[in-house]
Amino acid sequence: MAVFGTVFMPKMAMATFENQKWSETQVVSSDAISMHPGAHVLHYSSTCFEGLKAFRHEDGGIYVFRMDQNVARFKQSSQLLNLPPVDDAQISKMILDIVAMYADEVPEPPGSMYIRPTHIGMEASIGKAAAPSATSMMYVLLSPVGDYFAGGAKPLRLLLDETGMRCAPHMGMIKSGGNYASALGPILEARSEVQADQILFCPNGDVQETGAANFVLIDGNEIITKALDSSFLHGVTRSSVLTLAADMGMTVSERDITVEELLERAQKPGTEAALSGTAAVLTPVGTFIHNGKEYQVGNGEPGETTMKLRQRLNDIQWGKAQDKHNWLVKIA
Ligand SMILES: Cc1ncc(COP(=O)(O)O)c(C=O)c1O
Repeated sequence: MAVFGTVFMPKMAMATFENQKWSETQVVSSDAISMHPGAHVLHYSSTCFEGLKAFRHEDGGIYVFRMDQNVARFKQSSQLLNLPPVDDAQISKMILDIVAMYADEVPEPPGSMYIRPTHIGMEASIGKAAAPSATSMMYVLLSPVGDYFAGGAKPLRLLLDETGMRCAPHMGMIKSGGNYASALGPILEARSEVQADQILFCPNGDVQETGAANFVLIDGNEIITKALDSSFLHGVTRSSVLTLAADMGMTVSERDITVEELLERAQKPGTEAALSGTAAVLTPVGTFIHNGKEYQVGNGEPGETTMKLRQRLNDIQWGKAQDKHNWLVKIA
């Protein structure tokens, strides 16, 4: 199977914002777009995107998971970046129609069709460092993906970083390219220096998130994760996992966690830690690295509750369990 995110469906849905209004949606080749080298996005990073998935059920039906949540976040990111306002109905239809067009290409579980709506500032102006782009383009790319876990659910090694931060605090809940660029250097350093898979950013001891996933701690019947604020990305998977945990009778605690508390709890038998995200679903964490010391989480193996929550979420996505929260939208 190709590397995640490197195979694309040949066409995409696209619309442009010019003269204060959105064009009709077009279906165009996904091989290339044309833009001026002075386009706002290339210089001042007026860009945001989303990541969601469509799943194939056993009866052949194709379903998109929690599209309303991703559309709301896309709209919010665009607004916070001062990009033109996104029309919910238009972007939702672009997503559903392009997935419908490639319904036959949606892989069977554990694969899925990854959907990447993108919004970029197109105005040719290198004088607008402190002004928004008057024009923009949004498009929806599709990429069939396989099982992220092809090699088995090997628990991750996370470096706890208390001095740096993933991105500027007021940018945290915006899903924008610049935030990933900001986290890349530290992540590469953590990989080469302590063989960490990811950094768990904990500015001033406040446990936040990794470069591309939210963090949850599980202690017996309790699931703990940072309460929503503007400093980090409000994951759709995070919200889904918390809902499923509550359905299972677990206590859901949305509150701040300090590095000190994390390390103290981690070493108790029965403690579990995991990353949540559209790509990762719920990925177990086996080790924390902090100030040159390694701390095994629980027994270092994938946690039982982590794997149960992961399975419950997958079962809904794959049509094997009842979708009682109406998270799936049928498209074909
Ligand atoms: C920084 C960051 N945090 C959290 C998440 C998880 O969000 P979601 O569950 O909506 O995929 C992502 C993306 O997937 C992310 O890039």
